[in-house]
Amino acid sequence: MLKSSKIILKKIKNKPEIAVILGSGLSNFFNSSEIKENIPYSKLPDFIKPTVKGHSGNLVTGIIGKKNVICMYGRSHIYEGNNPQDLKAPIRVLKDIGCKILIITNAAGSLNKKIKSGSLILIKDHINWSGFNPLIGPNDENYGPRFNDMSNAYNLQLRKKIQKVGKKSKIKLNEGIYAMYSGPNFETPAEINALKILGCDVVGMSTVPEVIIANHCGIKTLAISVVTNYAAGLSKKKLSHKETLSEAKKAEKDIIKLIKNFIIDYK
Ligand code: HPA
Repeated sequence: MLKSSKIILKKIKNKPEIAVILGSGLSNFFNSSEIKENIPYSKLPDFIKPTVKGHSGNLVTGIIGKKNVICMYGRSHIYEGNNPQDLKAPIRVLKDIGCKILIITNAAGSLNKKIKSGSLILIKDHINWSGFNPLIGPNDENYGPRFNDMSNAYNLQLRKKIQKVGKKSKIKLNEGIYAMYSGPNFETPAEINALKILGCDVVGMSTVPEVIIANHCGIKTLAISVVTNYAAGLSKKKLSHKETLSEAKKAEKDIIKLIKNFIIDYK
């Protein structure tokens, strides 16, 4: 068990079964009456303090619909200079402390004119175009096998459930394929064209490492992109992180409502 897992288990009364990771621009998950504990990443040796605006770096526990939930307010990315292997630990901490389900969010660019800013895309699969894999290196058999199967990495059963919740909550949720690019620059129009030909719908700079690690250690995963812009070459607008943050904020209410309703409904 990792050091941070022991620290967290000492602090909390009930083990969380569901974990959530908040992506760029999303920061209002728990309301004050739901929160139990707030642990800054600086107190957890296995968590890297995020350096990017829009990622606060706190691990927060709380209760939603009688379920114990833990939420990572902010994440680290490979483009910040982190060793891809260092992205393993936070997800393995979630495993150590009992999480069975992980719901990941991110901000993403759209590769399709029909997928507009503000849309929510439920990721059904990915193409790891980052050039990195966090599992490279010695394998820790305590967490999973050397070669893990990725054919249901975005768990079909959970996707069906959240689609139902989306319908009930009147929140539109189309499915799509996510491409991970390393960043930190946004892609070139030629790269976006290539990703379109490969069959991708949205592109971003996160999520894939976390999905790989979660899948390896047997945590069932859902991932949702908030579309914040058309990807490079699809519009004349210059891309910026400022736009990513402000557009993600606009969709925040919908995505948080969707996730919370999913958690409440989950059996
Ligand atoms: N590309 C990569 N990552 C992103 C984008 C994009 O267009 N928008 C938000 N995150």
